[in-house]
Amino acid sequence: MSKFITLEGIEGVGKTSNRDYIRELLEQTGKQCIVTREPGGTPLGESLRELLLQHSNEKMSNDAELLLMFAARAEHINKVIQPALNDGKYVLCDRFTEATYAYQGGGRQLDVSKITDLENYVQGALRPDLTIILDAPVEVGRERAGKRSTPDRIEQEKNDFFDRVRNAYLDLARQHPDRICTVDASLPLEQVQAQIKQQLEDRGIV
Ligand code: TMP
Repeated sequence: MSKFITLEGIEGVGKTSNRDYIRELLEQTGKQCIVTREPGGTPLGESLRELLLQHSNEKMSNDAELLLMFAARAEHINKVIQPALNDGKYVLCDRFTEATYAYQGGGRQLDVSKITDLENYVQGALRPDLTIILDAPVEVGRERAGKRSTPDRIEQEKNDFFDRVRNAYLDLARQHPDRICTVDASLPLEQVQAQIKQQLEDRGIV
């Protein structure tokens, strides 16, 4: 049986290393798995990612940002995610629609019903089987992320934006405990990985 797993969190919570860890766990237990990301995952999606993340003198409207996220997602679902699930593969995706609820809904304070309408339109019944939110206080994430590279267009937002993003993620986990969980990403990596493994075991994935 295929499974669709997504990984979420604010900047600097360790998505990349934990994504690699989940992939290893899946492969060790004999699952065929593709790893992909949003926005991106297709040639068009990666072009849209560039437009979304690059700095520009022209300020992008919040609605345009929302629609570009879903345009990239539509392409990704049609060309990559759904075909892989149909082939019985596991799909491990670095961010998905929960990021839209968190960043465009929480961060940008867009009307959540707009996101829900687009989610239903673009995804039909498709929802991740499991979303793991790596949760840490904003200062902890920003401190780690800040050491890496210059911030992109979204990363340059202020702490109150990321506080809203984090709170929106935590709300999602409360609203959908059946398919969304949080792990404490402020702990050392081995302890974060132990929590992730436990979640995957509890749900019979590994
Ligand atoms: P990252 O995947 O490299 O962390 O960067 C992607 C950025 O895009 C990140 O700042 C979160 C943002 N984003 C949204 O604002 N909404 C979305 O729906 C998605 C998928 C990402």
